[in-house]
Amino acid sequence: MGNSTRSWNDLFTDPRFHWTEPDPGVAETVPRWRDEGRRAIYDLGCGAGRHMAYLQVAGFEVYGSDVAENGLGVCAGYMREAELPGRLVRAAMTACPFGDDSFDAGIATNVLNHNPRALLQDAMDEIHRVLKPGGEFYLTVLNTWDWRYGSGEEVEPDSFILAEGPETGILHHFFSEDDVRAWVSDFDLLELRRDRGELTLSTKLDDRPVVRDAWSVWLRK
Ligand SMILES: C[S@@+](CC[C@H](N)C(=O)[O-])C[C@H]1O[C@@H](n2cnc3c(N)ncnc32)[C@H](O)[C@@H]1O
Repeated sequence: MGNSTRSWNDLFTDPRFHWTEPDPGVAETVPRWRDEGRRAIYDLGCGAGRHMAYLQVAGFEVYGSDVAENGLGVCAGYMREAELPGRLVRAAMTACPFGDDSFDAGIATNVLNHNPRALLQDAMDEIHRVLKPGGEFYLTVLNTWDWRYGSGEEVEPDSFILAEGPETGILHHFFSEDDVRAWVSDFDLLELRRDRGELTLSTKLDDRPVVRDAWSVWLRK
């Protein structure tokens, strides 16, 4: 699946990957997007759908895509249970199945860093393409201070296939600040924030305090 040696489909058979709490940056941004009258939102790499539900309840028309069929299956079930429309499509992030200038805004939380370097720019170019002029995008990616940096096999500079924890076998790219800035240079960079704190997601390892270190990035086309 993609370029990871372990399939995301396998991970979604583990309920620990069915996250439900929204990312804090999504929760922070939603009221402003709503006040600005943004309507069509893209959840790129929607996984089990925590934001598909959250954003729809907040009043947006939300479209999700993901490469993992099992993730989309969990997400669709969750949407049915919540009696929300499931506008879901299976696609790689380097080939978003939407037309140019489709969305008022979008998100990709903990998704884009699962790419080899050669595809990172393709994924960013796709985000640029599907956003309307003035469209905004919020994303999170891990940074080079994260606790997992250096774990497993380094397949490219700052990219590792993890050798322990629930995401064993999955490729993770860790971004320096310069790396992020160069990557998003086709956009206006509204904010680049370092978020460091105890990992509270259900994929946290047992019995270990784990400090996640990531970039939260707000962009405008
Ligand atoms: C850590 S999960 C995050 C899911 C969701 N965004 C969230 O925050 O709850 C990473 C997601 O990226 C998806 N993914 C990984 N590689 C992908 C690719 N090449 N194209 C599209 N999605 C991909 C996985 O299937 C998975 O759903």
